Amino acid sequence: MNEPSTRSSGLPPAERVEDGPTLRQQLIRTARTTIARGLNVNKSGNVSARCVRGATEGLLITPTAIAYRELAEQDLVFVGLQDGRSSGERAPSSEWRMHADILRERPEFGAIVHTHSPAATALSCHGLDLPPFHYMIAVCGGPDVRCARYATFGTPDLSEHALVALQDRKACLLCNHGCVGCGADLADALAIAQEVEHLARIYLLAQQLGEPLRLDEAEMQRVLQKFRTSYGQR
Ligand code: 13P
Repeated sequence: MNEPSTRSSGLPPAERVEDGPTLRQQLIRTARTTIARGLNVNKSGNVSARCVRGATEGLLITPTAIAYRELAEQDLVFVGLQDGRSSGERAPSSEWRMHADILRERPEFGAIVHTHSPAATALSCHGLDLPPFHYMIAVCGGPDVRCARYATFGTPDLSEHALVALQDRKACLLCNHGCVGCGADLADALAIAQEVEHLARIYLLAQQLGEPLRLDEAEMQRVLQKFRTSYGQR
């Protein structure tokens, strides 16, 4: 794994969103979309969104071990960002700590989509980064998508390894586990998780003819600069 330099991404802080039916519906839709798009099956992965309840900052997260098709608004769990206390009828995802630690350390993120998507997870099972073999890697914020060191799911060590791999990035792989996509909101985080899976698929396909060509650091910096400034609709 390449060692990162700094933690900040230079992006503005995520919007302040109230916990309520609109956010809860969006979160359930996002979780179900991970299944529909083949990024998760049954009850793998988890989804969270930053929100506030009065003066308390926290996140809403999917409950542990309940299939997304069965989710109702009241099944989602609010977890305090500072104290990690959860309130709701259900127990939160076993990965609540990783979501909370990332959202606390990275104020620019408003949502996180964690998947076990096949190609990204296959790469993670070799502990490999997704290298700069294609310029679209830059949508994840840097010249590669790093693979975080392995730690047992739900542990503080997993949070720490994920935060290191996410430095200057919106996504990382988790060794022998899956992928984490982060974004300004749920749609953004889902798009990042899907982009990582798409790129990992292309990478594995390209590898069948040998290790693909890599773009050099200068070219990736040019692409990153274009994505930050001139690329897209005005
Ligand atoms: P949860 O059901 O606890 O969210 O766990 C699913 C998972 O994929 C853990 O990485």
